[in-house]
Amino acid sequence: MRKAVYPGSFDPITLGHLDVIKRAAKLFDEVVVAVAHNDAKQPLFTSAERVDLIRSSLAEENLTNVRVDAFNGLLVEYAIKQGATALVRGLRAISDFEFEFQMALMNRKIQPDLETIFLMPKEEYSYISSRMIKEVSRLNGDISAFVSPKVADALEQKFRP
Ligand code: PNS
Repeated sequence: MRKAVYPGSFDPITLGHLDVIKRAAKLFDEVVVAVAHNDAKQPLFTSAERVDLIRSSLAEENLTNVRVDAFNGLLVEYAIKQGATALVRGLRAISDFEFEFQMALMNRKIQPDLETIFLMPKEEYSYISSRMIKEVSRLNGDISAFVSPKVADALEQKFRP
């Protein structure tokens, strides 16, 4: 059984992330979408909220081989415990490459049994990021083209309760 972990902050999940999940689900028998607690990044949503938003964004996709979880600590240790052989990361543009390259090589050095694979989301999502979506939403801009309706509602609640 081929299992992959798709890790990230997902603060919050975007349509770009969803697109990567769908692509990964076609390639692997099981995909675990793994939310990093990452308190150092001071996320807008708690990890429990991020997990819920991923689950609700996935609800209409009918992906039976995708599971959502949260983890603390080293990603590679978590992935091995899950029985994964691969890490999935989305690559939007060349600007992502340097960080992703460093992370993939560092992870491979610590855990040579895990391979990192990169998937490119649809071009129309290549410029969106959780960070930008939060900024646009905070400033009352329309982010409905970039996130699921549940995430759009959750952002509205955070910024204009
Ligand atoms: O969505 P992000 O913020 O780009 O995801 C980064 C993430 C969560 C994958 C990365 O920060 C991570 O793996 N964190 C867990 C701690 C860890 O293993 N760090 C070493 C990475 S080389």
